[in-house]
Amino acid sequence: MGLRKLAAMLPVLAVAWHSASVQAEGPREVTFNREIAPILFRNCATCHRPGEVAPFSLLTYRDAARRSGQIAELTSSREMPPWKAEHGAVPFADERRLSDGEIALIRRWSETGAVEGDPADLPQTPRFATGWRLGEPDMIVRMPEPYTLAASGPDEYRCFVLPIQVPEGKYITSIEYRPGNRRVVHHAVFTSMPHKMAAAKLASGDGKSFLSGLAPPGQILSGQLSIWTPGMEPSLLPDDLAARWPSNTDLVLQLHLHPSGKPEVEQSTLGIHLTDRKPRAGLKIIVLFNSQIDIPPGRADDEVRASKMLLSDTDIYGIFPHMHLIGRTIRAEATLPDSTRIPLISITDWDFNWQNYYRYASPLHLPAGTKLDVRWTYDNSAANPANPSHPPRRVTYGEQTTDEMAFLVFDAISTGPLPPEELARRSAIAMGLLDRDHDGLLDIQELALAFGRTNPADIKKRIALYDRDGDLKLNAQEFVETFKAIGLH
Ligand code: HEC
Repeated sequence: MGLRKLAAMLPVLAVAWHSASVQAEGPREVTFNREIAPILFRNCATCHRPGEVAPFSLLTYRDAARRSGQIAELTSSREMPPWKAEHGAVPFADERRLSDGEIALIRRWSETGAVEGDPADLPQTPRFATGWRLGEPDMIVRMPEPYTLAASGPDEYRCFVLPIQVPEGKYITSIEYRPGNRRVVHHAVFTSMPHKMAAAKLASGDGKSFLSGLAPPGQILSGQLSIWTPGMEPSLLPDDLAARWPSNTDLVLQLHLHPSGKPEVEQSTLGIHLTDRKPRAGLKIIVLFNSQIDIPPGRADDEVRASKMLLSDTDIYGIFPHMHLIGRTIRAEATLPDSTRIPLISITDWDFNWQNYYRYASPLHLPAGTKLDVRWTYDNSAANPANPSHPPRRVTYGEQTTDEMAFLVFDAISTGPLPPEELARRSAIAMGLLDRDHDGLLDIQELALAFGRTNPADIKKRIALYDRDGDLKLNAQEFVETFKAIGLH
């Protein structure tokens, strides 16, 4: 170790020695200024500061001390900071979780009188940048008109159509979202929708926006382009990836708006960052989905599942789980061809208000033949405080607030287009993975795994797209086209 480096460490050593000597005299007092403020500034202030989404600020001793009991309670139960995915085998980027040690410190601080401590220990109040975080965007898109949200009433899921035109040869690397009014925007989801459909939706609304159910309408954008939640830092797509904007489509901004007690005006802005470097691979989404939801009133532990086989080697970047209000848990795992199981996400306390896109710290490489399995559970009992129906009613699949969904998207990359021989070779491998009875044909059951769906009617519809001879099975020639479309070749 160089002398300079050692010298730089000396103050740290001195502090360590000092605290060790105090420890020897009994547990050291936990103070706001020394232990608690750094935790709150780092983990809470992004939302708990003036003008942000949380109902109060946590930037000063006074603000924190008067709620110390509640802070201890909600951090112990991990309701705050909001981050629903359990810490798992595959780490997520930007994981917003307190350590057990930090939670214990907050509890001790609260239980020993929420002491303020020495002002000299207080770190600087965090400063939050205003303006674009990723530099000046290439395109700035704004809601054409401000929208006024009434003072009270139920939450709204309101959609705005933003016509965007990405010039030929340009690709999207990031969408930096800025709500106009952070008090009312609980989260925003971004989708694409064909012009005509978007125009029809607007016409069915007030001409400027339309209400949706909880499910975002249209095709959800991939990865971190899909959602904004308070406290989220904008970032570029990883690994020099970029997304192509589908032609003839508009961007749909779905806002979850939460009335604040007075009329509030919202006009969101999006900063879109572009590159003219052709991405080395296209971004794709892999959808697992089950529409066969039928939950009797009162049932507290209903479940549905979906599975999908990866038909070629796939890199997965992250995961976007989605249910509605009475969803309770989601678990997804991958089973590799050698039977190794990798947990991909586990949420044991689903809360619709705190849905998120969870990005892995580094991409996960999964070989062809890996099976993805997802299980969603629901609590339709009266004891579930999130149940929108009192008394509970039968709940089936649908888009409305009182319906349910079982949906999960991975974002991944596809390496295509492939030369025809390579496409044929990989398609034959994929067919081998699916054709369990080795009859050279893929039937509805065998194709369920390829499509990640469970409803036979839904699978038939998909088969029909490729089934030239109309026998409701796909032979090797017919399957090549299917593989090209869905196989992440
Ligand atoms: C991502 C934004 C966000 C972060 C980060 C966050 N909060 Fe919150 N917090 C909220 C919102 C929004 C509410 C209002 C209740 C709700 O909508 O769920 C809230 C409510 C609370 C409440 C009151 C709950 C009630 O029942 O009234 C407490 C206490 C709290 N937060 C503490 C914390 C602490 C402590 C941290 C950091 C360790 C933290 N929060 C981090 C957004 C956040």
